[in-house]
Formats: sequence, structure tokens, C-alpha cells
Amino acid sequence: MPFESASGRSLKNVLIQDAGYTPYEDWAWQGYRLAILAFAKEYGLKHLMEIGGGRRPLFTPEECAAHGFETTINDISPVELENMKVIFPTACFDISGDISSPEIKKGHYDLIYSRMVFEHVKDVEQAWKNIYQLLSPGGVAIAFYPTLYALPFLVNKLIPESVSTKIVDMLYGFRKGENMLKFPAYYDHCYGDAKKVEPMLKQIGFSDTAVMPFYGHDYFKKLPVLREIDNAIHDIARRKNLASLSSYAYAVVRK
Ligand SMILES: C[S@@+](CC[C@H](N)C(=O)[O-])C[C@H]1O[C@@H](n2cnc3c(N)ncnc32)[C@H](O)[C@@H]1O
Repeated sequence: MPFESASGRSLKNVLIQDAGYTPYEDWAWQGYRLAILAFAKEYGLKHLMEIGGGRRPLFTPEECAAHGFETTINDISPVELENMKVIFPTACFDISGDISSPEIKKGHYDLIYSRMVFEHVKDVEQAWKNIYQLLSPGGVAIAFYPTLYALPFLVNKLIPESVSTKIVDMLYGFRKGENMLKFPAYYDHCYGDAKKVEPMLKQIGFSDTAVMPFYGHDYFKKLPVLREIDNAIHDIARRKNLASLSSYAYAVVRK
């Protein structure tokens, strides 16, 4: 297989041993870059695509150059890509849409990554099928997404978008101006419970898969009583591996 692992380790082991995975929300945010770099190093991956990179791609062009990455930034929104402050090759398409256009390079990307994108995708199974097509043989993909049944995301899924936007504005007021876009969220296949996601990934044909849950979030930081109750639930869920109560997850796959 191209991109043979130097040590023959699984994605899960690379994530634990090299990136230092722990099931805490804080680590999920800090560890995302570490995880991508660990996979790139382990499997010698060079052609990268960020899905839903929007106006703020994860790596700078300088960082990509230092690691020898050739990186393309994808987004469904041309406005997001036009507002990117740095220069990268771009590919504007829906990751769950029709990718038959010859301009979309199939079998080309060694490492495809996304952060806070899959909850906005209506048909996540189709997104993974498209990722399978876009990946080169032996290529790796990672999706970092919020999970059901964490309370804030469950509520966001159940109540109308206009109401959830108002609540977030009221509580945090951080969605104003150019930074404040709120994309509709569906949470299709957004689970931290591997049993709910891995069969679908295996069915698509990925040779190695893992779903790694994270517990905790700071949505209730201004609501003391709710925050304490919710934190206690996260602690129990983490200690007892109740992944259905996780708040975030990484789904990682290898073609
Ligand atoms: C919440 S933002 C996250 C941006 C960035 N990944 C980050 O972590 O800061 C979600 C991004 O995903 C893009 N997006 C939503 N649905 C998408 C789809 N089906 N295909 C590709 N991009 C999508 C949005 O346009 C937006 O730029």
C-alpha cells in the first residue's frame, strides 16, 4: 500500500501514542493540529485538502511550506474563500454534493481534514463517500465535529435556527460582524459513539477507522447551576466511556 506506516500502527494508536489523545474537550481543540501532523509524519502524507476551511485555514502557507505540504482549501461558500486572508489554491464545492467535475481531483489528496464542518452537512454519508473518492490509496482523513447527545447540540438541532442564533447572541454576543456567521447545523451522523459511525465508514470501504470521543464543552460557562450539573454528567460519561454523551469527536479513516 502507498503511504505505508513506518511502524505498521493503526490510526488510533498514532493518535494516542504520537499526538497524545486524551478524551477531554480542551485536548480536542489543541490536539487537532497535532493529530494532523502526526498522521502526515507517520504515513508520509503531502497533498492536503482542508474541507470547509473557510476564511481561516488551519495552517498558514509558511507552515505548509515548512512541512512540505501542498494544501488546497475547500469550502461550499465562495464568499468564505474570497475572504481568506492568505493565498492557497482553492476548491469551491459541497463535500456532500456532485464531485464529478474534472476540476475536482479524485484520488489525489493524501490527507483530508475538517473542523466544525460535518454538523453543517446534510448528508454526511455522501460526504464520506466523496472523501473516499478524493483520497489517494492509503490516504487519511479526519473530521472533528460536535456530537449528539451533548445538550447544547441537541437543543441546537431541535430548535429553529433563528431561535438558536438569538440565544447564542444573547448569551455570548460573539456572532456579530464578519466573524459571526452562523451556518445551519443538521448533526447528521455526528456521534461520538463508534458503533453509530464506524459501520457506515467500513461499508464505504475504508481500511482503518476510529471514532475518538471528547467530553465537556463551555457553552454553559455563564450559567453556573446548569454548568455544574452538566460537568458532573460529562465526568461520569468520560469515566464510564458513555460516548453517546460526548460533546465532540474525531472520526479518522484510511483508504
Ligand atoms: C463553522 S465554519 C468552520 C470553519 C473552519 N473549519 C474552522 O474550524 O474555523 C464551517 C465552514 O464549513 C463550510 N461548509 C458548510 N457546509 C459545507 C459543505 N457541505 N461542504 C464544504 N464546506 C462546507 C462553511 O461554509 C464554513 O466555512
